[in-house]
Amino acid sequence: MIQPGSTIGVLGGGQLGRMFAMAARRLGYRVHTFAPEHDTPTGQIADVEVQASYDDLDRIRAFARAVDVVTFEFENVPAAAAAAAEEHAIVRPNGRALEIAQHRIREKTFLTRHGLPVTPFVQVQSAGDLAEAVQRFGRPTVLKTAVLGYDGKGQTRLTGDTDVAEAWHALGGREAILEAWVDLDRELSVIGARGVDGSSVCFGPIDNAHRHHILDVSFAPAQVTSRMAAEAIEATRTVMDALEYVGVLCIEFFLTRDGRLLLNELAPRPHNSGHLTFDACRTSQFEQQVRAICGLPLGSPELLQPAAMANLLGDLWAAGEPNWAAALGLPDVKLHLYGKATPRPGRKMGHLTALAATPEVAKLHVLEARAALTPRN
Ligand SMILES: Nc1ncnc2c1ncn2[C@@H]1O[C@H](COP(=O)(O)OP(=O)(O)O)[C@@H](O)[C@H]1O
Ligand SMILES: [Mg+2]
Repeated sequence: MIQPGSTIGVLGGGQLGRMFAMAARRLGYRVHTFAPEHDTPTGQIADVEVQASYDDLDRIRAFARAVDVVTFEFENVPAAAAAAAEEHAIVRPNGRALEIAQHRIREKTFLTRHGLPVTPFVQVQSAGDLAEAVQRFGRPTVLKTAVLGYDGKGQTRLTGDTDVAEAWHALGGREAILEAWVDLDRELSVIGARGVDGSSVCFGPIDNAHRHHILDVSFAPAQVTSRMAAEAIEATRTVMDALEYVGVLCIEFFLTRDGRLLLNELAPRPHNSGHLTFDACRTSQFEQQVRAICGLPLGSPELLQPAAMANLLGDLWAAGEPNWAAALGLPDVKLHLYGKATPRPGRKMGHLTALAATPEVAKLHVLEARAALTPRN
């Protein structure tokens, strides 16, 4: 067991690391963070902020030597960096989970091998491959880079009038995957935590609505049948066990209009859809990650009250500083900001959580609170 008072290293400097660091510090741990930028959301909370490139393996090794356990909040840390850290510290979750979650083709192949249903997909390596696959899936379909995609970046929807050759060239020869377009009823997520002893607990399913491929609003509990909820949790446990996972892992699911549950992608870390656990659950996803990687008993994931979360993107700043007082004046709403200095369109700047008697009312309240933030002149 890595006792409170020990030091945890976090690779990555974003808001997930920030909220993780808050949970770790509350339990008495020290936190070091490593990222290419300075004054990051995580760095503002950590005891020590190291600014270096993930390719600087000597700096990674020195970082790992100074801590008792290394985790990450950003899954695109290069495999070589994770391996260099492993030479000097315990790394949780392990490199294999990273390797799979970083690469859409490896991810879907792994899930299929474990009998889990995924969106029909095919690897594309040339303009010819792509044209053939588009023929096979019909339109619309979606072309995604195999690596480094997030918040819809690196993906193009191919509709009736998209020129396939152009779409291929726009990728610049990067490794890619074509997916059939799924007729979605809803999107769900489950956030699992698995301990060193193999025990696990799960939050969710959580219901997630996206705008422009970016998560917009989540609420819990999701309104699904108990059979569907059990199926999603069972799939999450299967994945964590297969990876001998230690830490927090999120699975994004598609619920199709004809009632099937497909696994969309894995995130080997806390997830945006789990931010509501901070205010609404007995143990947040961030505290759960601290507990898991330090070998402490996992906490209860119980949802104390229905809740909804709405993201605050940089777009909200278009007309000036948001009207914080309007949201802070609401008794059932909590405001979280990530300490980012520059609000850019699409950039996640913070979120709001609302608690209510039902998930519908929580969703209504969180949307009202967000609308109230827009400055009026
Ligand atoms: N095959 C698909 N069918 C329908 N919607 C999709 C499909 N792929 C992606 N999307 C939509 O785009 C969002 C982001 O895609 P995702 O594969 O999760 O990539 P990212 O890594 O950017 O989150 C999804 O949550 C979903 O709303
Ligand atoms: Mg996604």
